[in-house]
Amino acid sequence: MADKKIIAVVGATGAQGGGLARAILADPNGGFACRAITRDPSKGKAKDLTGKGADVEKADLDDVDSLKKAFAGAYGAYCVTNFWEHFSAEKEKAQAKNMAEAARTAGLKHVIWSTLEDTRKLMAANDTRMPILQEKYRVPHFDAKAEANPYFAGLPVTYLVTSFYWDNLYAFGMAPKRGNDGVYSWAFPMGNRRMPGIAVEDIGKAAYGIFKAGPQYIGKTVGIVGENLTFDEMSEKLSKGLNIPVKYHAVEADAYRGFGFPGADELGNMFQVYRDFDKEVLAARSIDVTRSLNPSLQTFDQWLARNKSRISLA
Ligand SMILES: NC(=O)c1ccc[n+]([C@@H]2O[C@H](COP(=O)([O-])OP(=O)(O)OC[C@H]3O[C@@H](n4cnc5c(N)ncnc54)[C@H](OP(=O)(O)O)[C@@H]3O)[C@@H](O)[C@H]2O)c1
Repeated sequence: MADKKIIAVVGATGAQGGGLARAILADPNGGFACRAITRDPSKGKAKDLTGKGADVEKADLDDVDSLKKAFAGAYGAYCVTNFWEHFSAEKEKAQAKNMAEAARTAGLKHVIWSTLEDTRKLMAANDTRMPILQEKYRVPHFDAKAEANPYFAGLPVTYLVTSFYWDNLYAFGMAPKRGNDGVYSWAFPMGNRRMPGIAVEDIGKAAYGIFKAGPQYIGKTVGIVGENLTFDEMSEKLSKGLNIPVKYHAVEADAYRGFGFPGADELGNMFQVYRDFDKEVLAARSIDVTRSLNPSLQTFDQWLARNKSRISLA
C-alpha cells in the first residue's frame, strides 16, 4: 500500500465515485490505492469498500477542513458533487470550491473534476425557448459545474464531461411505465435526436484510465460517452431486451417541465438542450476516447443485459 499512489475518491459510496473505487480495487497491481471519502464510514456501502481493501475516510464537502485532512498525502482526487441531494447550484459551486482548495493545500498531482458544459453558452441570454432557473441558469446542474471549473484552474486537473446515465432507468425512476393497454411508455422532449448516454460504472472506469495515463490528460477536457441513441432506438432495445412493448412519446419541453415532479423544470431544460443543441453536445464527447480509457466500455445492449433485473416493470 505504502508505495501506491493514493486516489481520494469523493462520492465513493455513490455511482460515479463507486465505479472508480471498484476499478482501483479490482486492479491490485495497477499502482493505485483507493481512499474512499464518505460522510458516514459506518454505512453499508462504506463498509463494503473497506472489505474490498479501501481506506475509508470521513469528510464532508461542506467542511473544507475535513476535505484537507481527507486529501492529505494523496496523489490524486476524484471530485464530484451531488446536485440532486439539494438542488442548489450555489451549494454545488461552494462544494466544488472546497474540493479545489483542499486539493491545492494537499499539493495533489492529479485531480479529476466531474463537470458538465455551460448550457448558457449555447444560446443567447435573451433566448426565450426555456426558462431561466435559480436566477441565472438554464440547466443549473450543468451550468454550476461549468462555473466551478475555474476553481480548479492552476491545479493539475482533468475536466471530465460526463453523459446521461442509462442507470437512471432504475435509479432515477425514468424507466417506461406500464399503461392499462399493457404497453410501456415514456415521454421526453427529445424529438428524434440522439442523446449521449453511458453506463455509470464506465464513468469510474474511464476516470481510472485518466489517472493511469497521468500527464497526457492533465489540463485537458475529456468528454465521455458509451453510445449516442434516440429514444426510439432505446425503446426498441428495451422491447427486445425486456420482452415488453415500449413506446416513446416525444413531448414538447414546456409539457415536460409541467409534469410537476421535483426537478421537472431542470430536466425539461436539460433534455431540450440535448435536443436543440445535439450537434454541440455530441461533439463534446467521444466514444473512441472513452473506449481508449476504458476498453470494457459498454453499449446500451450490454448495459441492459447486465442491469435488466434492476429495472422495475410496474
Ligand atoms: N444521473 C445522471 O444521468 C448524471 C449524468 C451526469 C452527471 N450527473 C451528476 O452526477 C452527480 C451525482 O453523482 P452520483 O450519481 O455519483 O451520485 P450518487 O450516486 O447519488 O452518490 C452521491 C455521492 O456523493 C457523496 N456526497 C454527497 N454529498 C456529500 C457531502 N456533502 N460530502 C461528502 N460526500 C458527499 C455521497 O457520499 P456519502 O452519502 O456516503 O457521504 C455519495 O457517495 C450530480 O451532481 C449529477 O448532476 C448525473
